[in-house]
Amino acid sequence: MQTITGTDIEIAKQFLMNGDLVSIPTETVYGLAANALNEEAVIKIFEVKNRPSFNPLIVHCATWKLAQQYVNNIPGKAHLLAEKFTPGALTFLLQKKDTIPDLVTAGSEKVAIRIPNHPLTLALLNRLDFPLAAPSANPFGYISPTTALHVFENLGGKIPYILDGGPAIVGLESTIIGFDENEKVLLYRSGGISTEEIESMINEKVLPAPTSPEKNPETSGQLKSHYAPNTPLYIGNIDILRYKFQEKKVATISFKKEIDGIDNKYQFILSPQGSLQEAARNLFAALRKIDQLHVDVIIAEKFPNEGIGRAINDRLNRAQAENKK
Ligand code: TXA
Ligand code: MG
Repeated sequence: MQTITGTDIEIAKQFLMNGDLVSIPTETVYGLAANALNEEAVIKIFEVKNRPSFNPLIVHCATWKLAQQYVNNIPGKAHLLAEKFTPGALTFLLQKKDTIPDLVTAGSEKVAIRIPNHPLTLALLNRLDFPLAAPSANPFGYISPTTALHVFENLGGKIPYILDGGPAIVGLESTIIGFDENEKVLLYRSGGISTEEIESMINEKVLPAPTSPEKNPETSGQLKSHYAPNTPLYIGNIDILRYKFQEKKVATISFKKEIDGIDNKYQFILSPQGSLQEAARNLFAALRKIDQLHVDVIIAEKFPNEGIGRAINDRLNRAQAENKK
């Protein structure tokens, strides 16, 4: 199959209406989209990604208002958070209506809903009369794509069209939240919207989601190994790790400081001016570049555990060598 990369939402619309897959840009990462109401189209997502069918998909809608036709019993806090953070990098787990196929939610009563904040994709969604099921457009387990070229490198030849909306400005996947029976907010995956931002809107703590990652994770973002480069990655103090791997060819990932004695080509400073936002934006592209350098190990420092820094640490942790076994 020939894969075309372009910026034409009309072409994207035609493929989607025809039950084919299109990669779409979002502010977080690129998605692999299909008509969420068409099971045959949705099956193709699982095939192309090599994704286990027990792993549910996020449904993307043009507006929060339109999303409401697919869900029941929306908690008041969901409305409050949606008003503030949609369109944006926040995904809501809500009770689904029957119109959403079970395949999309992997049999769960809950569907993940997101309003992405990207002008091209919002324009596309506005022209469609169905929502889009879309996971990140990477092969299952690998690093999510933040550019159209990343998508092409992974899925070229397997999908007809990549809608190119430029590099993703957030660079990490959306934050996924749900609600318990008391309407407490539960965190299923940290991401583009920080816990602090959510807590300041609802004036209470966000609680960790109950499922343990080892058994039956509710979200693949909860799997221990995920978002992983092919090169083994270790997190910790860079100097200590360099000593430990002195016989090996290493690449480093640091927040803002330059590492003495490592060639520029092999060191990735994610934000020289110390912005966690910028670091998040650069993380996945850096991991992909390092995979192409064919070094023995990646050593990364721990990032400040605040704001989007938590999501950066979460992704680095899941990319760790010891979690890949
Ligand atoms: O930023 C994002 O969220 C990107 C862009 C494309 O929107 N999408 C994304 O999708 O990261 P994906 O499939 O790579 O990750 C979505 C996560 C998975 O871990 C999945 O298990 C979880 O959301 N999820 C989806 N539907 C769910 C449901 N009904 N219940 C529990 N978890 C769900
Ligand atoms: Mg993913």
